[in-house]
Amino acid sequence: MCGIVGYLGYRDAYPVIIKGLKRLEYRGYDSAGIALIQDKVEVHKSIGRVQDLEQSISDKDKSGNIGIGHTRWATHGSPTNDNAHPHVSNSGLITLVHNGIIENYASIKTHLEVYGYKFYSDTDTEVLVNLIEYVYKTAKVSLEEAVRIALKKIVGAYGIVVISNEEPDRMIVARNGSPLVVGLGDKEFFVASDATPIVEYTDNIVYLNDRQMAIIGDEEFTLKTIENEVVLPEIKKIDLDIEKIEKGGYDHFMLKEIFEQVSSIHDTLRGRVAIDGKEITLGGISSVIPQFVKAKRILIIGCGTSWHAGLVGEYMFEEFARIPVEVEYASEFRYRNPVINDDDIVLAISQSGETADTLAAIKMAKEKGATVLGICNVVGSSIPRETDSGVYTHAGPEIGVASTKAFTAQVTVLAMMSLLVGFKKGTLSSELYQELIVDLQSLPEKVKAILDKEEQIKELAKEYKDVSNAIYLGRGYQYPVALEGALKLKEISYIHAEGYPAAEMKHGPIALIDENMPVFFIATQDVYYEKVVSNIREVAARKGHVIALVTEGDNLVSEIAERVIEIPSIHESLAPLLTVIPWQLISYHIAVMRGCNVDMPRNLAKSVTVE
Ligand code: M6R
Repeated sequence: MCGIVGYLGYRDAYPVIIKGLKRLEYRGYDSAGIALIQDKVEVHKSIGRVQDLEQSISDKDKSGNIGIGHTRWATHGSPTNDNAHPHVSNSGLITLVHNGIIENYASIKTHLEVYGYKFYSDTDTEVLVNLIEYVYKTAKVSLEEAVRIALKKIVGAYGIVVISNEEPDRMIVARNGSPLVVGLGDKEFFVASDATPIVEYTDNIVYLNDRQMAIIGDEEFTLKTIENEVVLPEIKKIDLDIEKIEKGGYDHFMLKEIFEQVSSIHDTLRGRVAIDGKEITLGGISSVIPQFVKAKRILIIGCGTSWHAGLVGEYMFEEFARIPVEVEYASEFRYRNPVINDDDIVLAISQSGETADTLAAIKMAKEKGATVLGICNVVGSSIPRETDSGVYTHAGPEIGVASTKAFTAQVTVLAMMSLLVGFKKGTLSSELYQELIVDLQSLPEKVKAILDKEEQIKELAKEYKDVSNAIYLGRGYQYPVALEGALKLKEISYIHAEGYPAAEMKHGPIALIDENMPVFFIATQDVYYEKVVSNIREVAARKGHVIALVTEGDNLVSEIAERVIEIPSIHESLAPLLTVIPWQLISYHIAVMRGCNVDMPRNLAKSVTVE
């Protein structure tokens, strides 16, 4: 969690860092801080958002060509000024920003206290900065060496940028487990947790690997391992469109991203399903298709919305490729000592490519000899680099904390994968394969038709915005959409919501139905339709408020439900790509009407890089 920005060059560091921190606020927004090298290092911090920091120091001297900044998602200690980064060592010599968790901080703290060190925050980071100072002073080594020695003593995850009063012309950057990228400009260097703060200055990027350090000085960039071996940096060209990381006229990133689904699904299909073609091509996994065809089992791992996408994938792979699938929360999988066989395929799904639990699960699966594939959105992030091969979703940057276009892009990739494997394996007929390819191509236009109903959905949101609870029900392919609808509502509007398979209602949740309970049903045309209609009748009979998604032309449900939203017809396996959209829009509008910060919901962060 937490976002880091650093700058060293000929520009004023302050505006570069502030702008960069604003781009990284999705990573955490409990507090923000900045340190600028002037005559000595000057540190400013504020609880709240980056704009609060800006206001609090509007009258201060913000000059300096070297600086570091941080936007925090609290882990150790509550969001206070003392706990905000940057943290400064006891004598004021060393200053650093940190993203990650130092697991053995308590024992190091005790050790440092013996030598008279005092601690003013509850953070693990303050322990690290003092450990570096302690090494620097006692071993009488350079800043680089002090950082190296200190890092060898710690256990845990870090992305850090360190500066010092005594070496005011350099920054030391290091990574283990928490992402860091360095942008190489012309006589200037940028450091950040991802490339978004950097793209407008340079497209030359170096992604630090775990246990690597970069020493950045005046026209100097050296990459080394923590063991002090020099590494030849691999400079990547990034292709990130500035417009795509700004709001572009929408009130919130979330709304922009919901509306982008017309193009993000199109982009995800582009080059893989030819416009006039009848074939699916997935270059990223072409070499493992034979392994897929022979696979005895697929294990899908992910968290949150990515886990929901995995559940849709389970139905797809089992239907089209007849391969048994297990979908696991990465956080459970990594500690469960799961049985993984040689002929299993592990498929990790992640928007950010940085989720700590998913990364740890991948590493564990690889250690057990599994072939691990990824479905990721952020190019160059840790998961694509850790997996054997995979497919990018091409959804473009997703900034809103609530995942929307990433979900539909992930499901689109899962659809292409499962159809391709099923066809190659012979478990999917050529006719159905062709039919589904045509349906895939129709998705952008059908998504657009649903987005055109925004006003109707907004009206509906108005009616239900004051509820305290909600239930989402769906069956088969629509069960994961029910889960996703409930997650969207709770995470941005703070309304308690639960998703269930509709048939499970009678095993408990039906007890909750009364005249105050809205129940969001997915009752589109599929094999479960009649049964879901019966569930709708059961809710209506108990005076629950039924809001239902139905297939265009349905006349039955509207007689029972309070509200219906029509969805264009499509093969049931692809219907989740359409039915999720009204749920995204309802959650968005309810949250806005309740005055919630939809892009940065409380307690959450976009990228969960801690356990
Ligand atoms: O980046 P990832 O897809 O790995 O993130 C997984 C979850 O943290 C994420 O989907 C989270 O649940 C979202 N806030 C859901 O909207």
